[in-house]
Amino acid sequence: MIKGIIHAISDPQERVIHPDKKPGDRVDLTLRPKLLQEVIGQEQIKENLSILVQAAQQRGESLDHVLFYGPPGLGKTTLAHVLANEMGVNIKITAGPAVERTGDLVSVLTNLHAGDVLFIDEIHRLGRAVEEILYPAMEDFALDIIIGKGPSARSIRLKLPRFTVIGATTRLALVTAPLRARFGAVYRLNYYEPHSMEEIVRRAARLLGVEADNDGIKVIAGRARGTPRVALRLMRRARDFAEVRADGEINRTVAEDALNLLNVDALGLDDMDRRVLETIIKKYNGGPVGLSTISASISEEPDTIMDVVEPYLMQLGFLERTQQGRLATRLAYQHLGLTPPEKQSPQPNLFNS
Ligand SMILES: Nc1ncnc2c1ncn2[C@@H]1O[C@H](COP(=O)(O)OP(=O)(O)OP(=O)(O)O)[C@@H](O)[C@H]1O
Ligand SMILES: [Mg+2]
Repeated sequence: MIKGIIHAISDPQERVIHPDKKPGDRVDLTLRPKLLQEVIGQEQIKENLSILVQAAQQRGESLDHVLFYGPPGLGKTTLAHVLANEMGVNIKITAGPAVERTGDLVSVLTNLHAGDVLFIDEIHRLGRAVEEILYPAMEDFALDIIIGKGPSARSIRLKLPRFTVIGATTRLALVTAPLRARFGAVYRLNYYEPHSMEEIVRRAARLLGVEADNDGIKVIAGRARGTPRVALRLMRRARDFAEVRADGEINRTVAEDALNLLNVDALGLDDMDRRVLETIIKKYNGGPVGLSTISASISEEPDTIMDVVEPYLMQLGFLERTQQGRLATRLAYQHLGLTPPEKQSPQPNLFNS
C-alpha cells in the first residue's frame, strides 16, 4: 500500500489529482448519480436541464441536442447518462477519436431508435468528413449518402428517427462553429463549490461504506480542486492510509497526513501545478512565457498543462493567459512562499478557454 503511494508520487502519469480517468476509478461508475435530483451542485445547469426534459416530454418530442463543456472530471458523462435516464431512452456511447471513418458514424446513426441519445465524448476530435455527415443528421434527421462513382454517382437522402446528440468536450474552442450551432443547448460545467464537494464526498463515503467524520470529509473536499473525480480518488487514498496507518476512520489528521504524503497541498495543488508555477516564476521571471516553453521545461504534454493544470490555477487566480504567454500572479508567488516582484504589469486576458 505504502509502495503504491510512493509510486504515485514519483510517476507523473499516476498523479492522484489528475482529473483524467484511471483504472481505479471504475468504482466511480457505481457512484454516478442516475437522476437529476441525485446530482449534487451545478444548480443552474440542473434547473435548465429539468426544464429541457420536461418540455420535451410534454411535447412528446426527443430531447434537443445538448453540448457540455468544461475541465475533466466535473460530470459531463454523468449528466449525459442522467438525461437519458430522465427521458427513459437508450444511450449509445462513442467518442470523437473512435469514429474514424464516415461509415462508422453511418452505422451508428442507422441503428438508433426514436428518442435515443447518442453520446459523443471528446466531440472536438471528430474528423471533418465525419462531422459533415453529422450536420444533416442533427438538423434534419437525414443522412445524405452518395451511391456509385463518377458521372453516374447520385446522392440519396435517408430518413433517420428523431434522436438526440449529447456532446462533451474539454475544449469548446476546438468545436467547429457549424457543429456548435447545431446544439440547442450548450452548458459550461464549472468547478464545484466547497459545500457541494463536501456533499459529494459524504455521499460517496456512505455508499462505499467508508468511515469518515466531518472534518476528514472537509479536508478531502477542500483539496480536490472542485472536481468530483479527484475527490473520489483522494477519498480512496485516504481510506487506504486510514486502514494501514490508523484505525480505519478518516478524520482530520488522517486525511491531512494522507494527502500531505501525496504532496497534495491545502489548496489541492500537487507537484505538477507547483512545477508549472515555479518554472514561470523562477526560470522566466514570472512570465509571460509560452505554453510550449513551459511544456518543454517540465517535460509535460502541452495538452495536459492546458486542460488539467491551467484551468484550476486560473480559477485560483494564480495564473493568467495573455497574448504574450502565461503569467504568474502575486497570489501564486505568495502561495509558494516567494516574494513577488515590485511591479508586474498585468496583461489583458485575451484567451478565454
Ligand atoms: N454532480 C455530481 N454529483 C455526484 N457525483 C458526481 C457528480 N459529478 C460527477 N460525479 C462523479 O465524478 C465522476 C466523474 O464524472 P464524469 O465521468 O461524469 O466526468 P466528465 O466530466 O465526463 O470527465 P471527462 O472530461 O474526463 O470525461 C463520476 O463517476 C461520478 O461518480
Ligand atoms: Mg466523461
